[in-house]
Amino acid sequence: MIQQDFSTSEQAAEESVKVSAFRHRHAHLLSAAALACLQKANSGVESALSSLEVRDQQLFRLRLARWFQNLYEGLLPVYGQRADFDDFMERLVLLMARHYVQRPDDLKLLDVERDLEPDWFQHESMLGYVFYVEQFAGKLSKVGDHLDYLEEMGASYVHLMKVMQSRDGENDGGYAVTDYRRVDSSLGTNEDLESLCTDLRARGMSVCIDLVLNHCAQEHPWALAAQAGDAHYQDYFYMYEDRSLPDAFERTLPEVFPEFAPGNFTLDEKSGKWVWTTFNHFQWDLNWSNPEVFLEIVEVMFDLANQGVDVFRLDAVAFMWKRMGTDSQNQEEVFDLMQALRTCSRITTPAVAHKAEAIVAPDDLIRYFGVGRHHGKVSNFAYHNSLMVQFWSSLASRDTRLMTRALSEFPRTPNSIAWGTYLRCHDDIGWAIADDDAESVGLNGAAHRHFLSSFYAGEFEGSFARGGVFQFNRATGDRRINGTLASLSGLEQAIEWGSPELVDLAIERILLGHALICGFGGIPLIYMGDELGLLNDYHYIDTPDHAGDSRWMHRPAMDWEKADRRHDLNTIEGRLYTGLSHIVRVRRKASQLNARYDTDIVDTGHPHVFTLANRHPLGTLACVYNFSESTQYLNVQPLYESGIVELYDKLSAREINVYNDVIELAPYARLWVT
Ligand code: GLC
Repeated sequence: MIQQDFSTSEQAAEESVKVSAFRHRHAHLLSAAALACLQKANSGVESALSSLEVRDQQLFRLRLARWFQNLYEGLLPVYGQRADFDDFMERLVLLMARHYVQRPDDLKLLDVERDLEPDWFQHESMLGYVFYVEQFAGKLSKVGDHLDYLEEMGASYVHLMKVMQSRDGENDGGYAVTDYRRVDSSLGTNEDLESLCTDLRARGMSVCIDLVLNHCAQEHPWALAAQAGDAHYQDYFYMYEDRSLPDAFERTLPEVFPEFAPGNFTLDEKSGKWVWTTFNHFQWDLNWSNPEVFLEIVEVMFDLANQGVDVFRLDAVAFMWKRMGTDSQNQEEVFDLMQALRTCSRITTPAVAHKAEAIVAPDDLIRYFGVGRHHGKVSNFAYHNSLMVQFWSSLASRDTRLMTRALSEFPRTPNSIAWGTYLRCHDDIGWAIADDDAESVGLNGAAHRHFLSSFYAGEFEGSFARGGVFQFNRATGDRRINGTLASLSGLEQAIEWGSPELVDLAIERILLGHALICGFGGIPLIYMGDELGLLNDYHYIDTPDHAGDSRWMHRPAMDWEKADRRHDLNTIEGRLYTGLSHIVRVRRKASQLNARYDTDIVDTGHPHVFTLANRHPLGTLACVYNFSESTQYLNVQPLYESGIVELYDKLSAREINVYNDVIELAPYARLWVT
């Protein structure tokens, strides 16, 4: 415990006045225990902040007081049992103060802007664009050559991939980090990152990068020290003398990469210990029960935020806490830790938002926004994996009943968050379809998942898709799928077969998907190239570092010649780009698509049509999508019941013809009805 040493009684009196004023002002925000903890932790803050203007110091203190309860409640269940908990909290508060002092003025201004507009990321004008820097521009410094392109598309947020230094050779697409602080030398320098962030910010775009929380590379200095026998660093990982604990854990653990890396533990020859490696053998899981790991990562987070990164994608968060007898995913402590991490950002770098990457079942997924005591405190946005999977499922089966069922069962989200809605990302697609959802619409879950894999691998008779199987799991029979949006939607096959009719259908499917993710209320995330219909890249095997990982099939290099033809409606890329741009433009003017408002699934009973209602105090926006290549007829009574008064389609800017309460839907039609 740290005691203040007051040299004079006046100083002591002055301090006690400050403390009671503080206590008085924040009594409603802080429990007695949290207040006591904060007062102890506060001791070093004064001198850490002393170089700042008084108003600037006050701002930090206000934020600290405002959010400290969340921080305390996140960390107490995880580290509260430790004798050094108070010291830990003191170090953490000091770390926050120091990084606040280092924060550049323009970012502090952004902090204030976002204090004033905490829902900035929920706005209907948000559009994310996601790319590997290597594939988009080669280098960070070259991304700047394409800012007009990003701005024209309407991007307000870019997710840059593989930014921090990763190991040479196989590196899981950059997710095996050897240095969390240094930009990968193949892409440029930290100065390049900082100046790119500044340029993007000047155009109103946020910058997201990955924070790989669950593991680092076996070549990271922490892991190297652990291999060499340093006990301090061995405690950063899960290392076991023999197989007894690993075997006991294995009984209930699934395998993430059953083909690349069967099992969850790897024998490290140097230390002679078994190391927890959920993903590849070269990715060592970090031990978050060690508060040193928490402090290290928080410092990394602040450093990057001070370089201008304003969204962190928290990679593979579900795996951050291990518990014997479970699958060691989505454990309660994960949410405590995430709440604490987010609170650290809220206090020190409030412009920063957190995005959870948790590809888990719906009931668990919702916990990444916080349920119960974590309500609304865990992350700002998370991937809507189920929407993505259901899109592909309905597209293959031309049947929307499973989609309607699974998505209407989805738990409600807090109104302070946003879904990241997407069709494709840099990863494979896993068929996360619950058996009971499948059963409730008369399907067998395993059989349907099997059908989807065969369909998208292009094996199923009559399939339009061209994709590849990723990670066949012999134990469960699961086969995940690779492929770009365009290739999986039929464009590759249509071009190969030289069929203009099939090209038309593929384009309609792609635009149906874009309309779905843009019309959901959330942040639509466009994976690079999907705006132009880039096809699978089968040449990834010629690049030695990519050859071993077939996900590179759907991470093609940007085709700037196609991009140059984006306004030419005689080209496929022109039709796709123009179609997407139109959807994005309409979206920006649809306040119902602000993520804060509820999105309800409407069950119209129609087996080929998917319908949802975006609620808004000024009126509902209903989205109607025909998932089949034939004309469908929909009875509009359920739309009227869901609050639609006049049938006007915002996407085509036309009144919809109604005949005997029925409307006609063209193949793959998409309507946004007010
Ligand atoms: C995330 C990434 C994926 C990576 C994994 C392990 O799921 O998106 O690409 O393989 O985490 O880091």
